[in-house]
Amino acid sequence: MTSNHDVVIPTLDIRGDRIADDIAGFAALSESGPGVTRLAYSPLEREAHRIFSDRMQKLGLSVHTDAAGNTIAELAPTEPETDGRIIGTGSHLDSVPHGGRFDGIAGVVAAMEVARAVVRGGGARRRRWRFVVFAAEEGARFGQACNGSRMVAGLTRSAELDSLVDAAGVSMAVAMREVGLDPAAIASSRWNSDEWLGFIELHIEQGAVLESREIEVGVVDVISGSTRLLVTVRGQASHTGGTPMHLRRDALVTASECVLASDRIANNPEHHGTRVTVGRIEVRPGSITTIPGWAEFSVDIRDVDSDRQRRTAEELVAEFERIASRRNTDLDVELMGDTSPVVLPVWVADHIVAAAAELGMRYRILPSGASHDSQQVNRIAPTGMIFVPSRDGLSHVPEEFTSVEQIAAGTRVLLAALMRLDASV
Ligand code: GLV
Ligand code: MN
Ligand code: MN
Repeated sequence: MTSNHDVVIPTLDIRGDRIADDIAGFAALSESGPGVTRLAYSPLEREAHRIFSDRMQKLGLSVHTDAAGNTIAELAPTEPETDGRIIGTGSHLDSVPHGGRFDGIAGVVAAMEVARAVVRGGGARRRRWRFVVFAAEEGARFGQACNGSRMVAGLTRSAELDSLVDAAGVSMAVAMREVGLDPAAIASSRWNSDEWLGFIELHIEQGAVLESREIEVGVVDVISGSTRLLVTVRGQASHTGGTPMHLRRDALVTASECVLASDRIANNPEHHGTRVTVGRIEVRPGSITTIPGWAEFSVDIRDVDSDRQRRTAEELVAEFERIASRRNTDLDVELMGDTSPVVLPVWVADHIVAAAAELGMRYRILPSGASHDSQQVNRIAPTGMIFVPSRDGLSHVPEEFTSVEQIAAGTRVLLAALMRLDASV
C-alpha cells in the first residue's frame, strides 16, 4: 500500500548506556520484596509516569496525562506535515506483583531512546510522533488487562470501573481517584482513528523462541486473547477431627479438582495451543484444624483462536459445576476480564521486517502468547509489535532478563520502522 523507495535509514544514535540508566531508574520504583512490584494505578506507577513525563518535557516534547492515566508525549514534525496523520510508539510501566524489570518497561525505554535519538540527532520528520505510556496494562491487580489502552480504544465505560475490584476490595474507580485521576472522565481519553497512521510497540518476548534460535527480533502476527474467571466455592467449615470424611463439604477439595480439570482440559488435543492457568487461590478460614469452608481461585484462559478461547471457558465452567455438585458444594463464577485475540495488520509488520532486513538483523514472525496494549490500540491505529528475546523465556518473575544490547538492537529496528511509517503516504 505504500512506497518507501526513498526511505533512508538514519544513522541516528541508539545508545545502550542511556537505555540501561532508564531501566535502572524505573526498577528502583518498587514495593519491597523480590523483583519489581509497581501495580496498576498505584502511586509507584504514577511516579514512573512522572519520570517519563519529565524526561520527555526536558527533551522539548509536549506531554500530558489523560483521565485514564496514560501519559502521552508529542514531538512536532520538522517538515511540512504529509497528511496530518500521527505515528506512535510506547508500552506500559506497571508490573505484576514480584515481576521483572523489562515487561512493558523495555518498550517505554525504547520509545524514550527513539525520542532522544531523533531530537538530538536531527533528521527530517513529516509527521507528529507520539510516545505513549499506557496505564494499568497488567491484569494482575483488577483482573482486566490493558486498562489504559482499552480506554483509549473506547472499550471501557466509567460505570464499569466500580465493578473491577482488586484482592483488597478496592475498585478501579477508587484506585484511580486515589492517585489523582478522574474515572468519570475516561471517555475524554479516547483516540480518534482518523488521526492515526500507525503504532509500533516494542516488548520482550516472554517466551523462548527468539533466544533458542538466536534471533534478534520477533515480528508479531497474532496476539493471544484472554478470558479470566473468578471462581468462588462455598462448602461448610467445621472441625477436622470431628467431621467424618463422608459428611464433608470441603471447598478446597472442590477447588483442587477444578484446578486438575483445568490442566486436563487444556492438555486435551482438541485444545492444542490453549493455555489455562489457576494462578491465585485463597482458602478460608485457613486453619490447620478447620475444614476449608470457602475457596476462591482465578482462571486465566489464553488462546490465539477466539472461538476456542470462549468454548474452553464454557467447558471449564460446566466441568467446575459438575465437580461442585458431586462434592455437595456451591459454585459461583464471575467473568473478570475478556479480550479477543487480534491479528495485526501485515503492512505494518512488513515495515518492521524491512527495517530489520535493512539493518542486517535476523527476524522471525511469531505469535504473542501474552496480552499487550497493541491489541487495543490496533482498533484505532494499525499496529505492529517488535519482540526482543527473553532469557530462558521467563517473564512475570524477578529473573526476567533482556540485555541492554538486545533492547538497543530492537530499538534500532523500532526507529527504522517508525522512519518508514513517517515517510509512507
Ligand atoms: C500481560 O502481561 C499479560 O498478562 O499477558
Ligand atoms: Mn507487558
Ligand atoms: Mn505483563
